[in-house]
Amino acid sequence: MNKIIVIGASGQIGSDLTLELRNRYGNENVIASDIKNASDEVMSSGQFEVLDVLDEKKVFDTIKKNNVDTVYLLAAMLSGSAEKNPKKAWELNMKSLILMLDLVKDSLVKKLFWPSSIAVFGPTTPKINTPQLTIMEPSTVYGISKLAGERWCEYYFKKYNADVRSIRYPGLISYKTEAGGGTTDYAVEIFYEAIKHKKYECFLTENTALPMMFMPDAIKATIDLVEADPKNIKIRSSYNLSAISFSPKQLAIGITKHIPNFNISYKPDFRQQIAETWPESINDECAQKDWGWKYTYDLPKMIEIMLREIGKKLS
Ligand code: SER
Repeated sequence: MNKIIVIGASGQIGSDLTLELRNRYGNENVIASDIKNASDEVMSSGQFEVLDVLDEKKVFDTIKKNNVDTVYLLAAMLSGSAEKNPKKAWELNMKSLILMLDLVKDSLVKKLFWPSSIAVFGPTTPKINTPQLTIMEPSTVYGISKLAGERWCEYYFKKYNADVRSIRYPGLISYKTEAGGGTTDYAVEIFYEAIKHKKYECFLTENTALPMMFMPDAIKATIDLVEADPKNIKIRSSYNLSAISFSPKQLAIGITKHIPNFNISYKPDFRQQIAETWPESINDECAQKDWGWKYTYDLPKMIEIMLREIGKKLS
């Protein structure tokens, strides 16, 4: 039986994705790996390998030894952290992708999933209902690395028939593992602070609307795309993907419905400039048409589940 490996299984997406993949394909068929230990749930439900994605030999050996045929490569440095460490972000985000694309090209791996982001867009991109094909002039090092990555993915597909699939994730909201170093992280932090202290100081301004998505939708989209018939995948750079779009103020109003004395204040930092270059909403008609994408969770439902689950975690 061939296996799946999730590289970056300790991260925000990786921890949820590993558990859902194990659920679907069996614990024994999904290897989790990361440079640091993952959550207890991930560590205890199946195989875990300590892996530095830039350690070419160890990556190769782990994949070969375990008969891995599908790789989900999630290790990356996000937008905020990348601005503080541009060269390191470029090295991590690019080298890991090229290394993996070569393994697909050389047929050691059959399928690769690699995430792109709304960060591929920039200040000159149309902000509302941003199309799949549009102006892309990202101004962050994270966005530059994701856009370059998208071009490499398409190049490897066209030139070597490498089966690589990708999604431009919006900001992701989840309760299992906190995000780290991103511009959209406020939309996760706010729930912890609302429950613990009934107040939150937001690092974006109140009307900064961004495209967002609840993690179960993102996980479903990811697995649906990886399972899709290759003939339906018309885009080999990366698919636009959309669900909900909201500003910090709209999110705070939604939280107030459950925690009436919740108070939000605003103290924008360097991430405000990043957010201002990104779209407010995304057009994902291609994903809908090609592989049947449709989101499930709207803003009120997401808020309700986040407060309930984080409430349980903190109590
Ligand atoms: N959520 C990411 C970030 O804020 C965008 O892909 O960096």
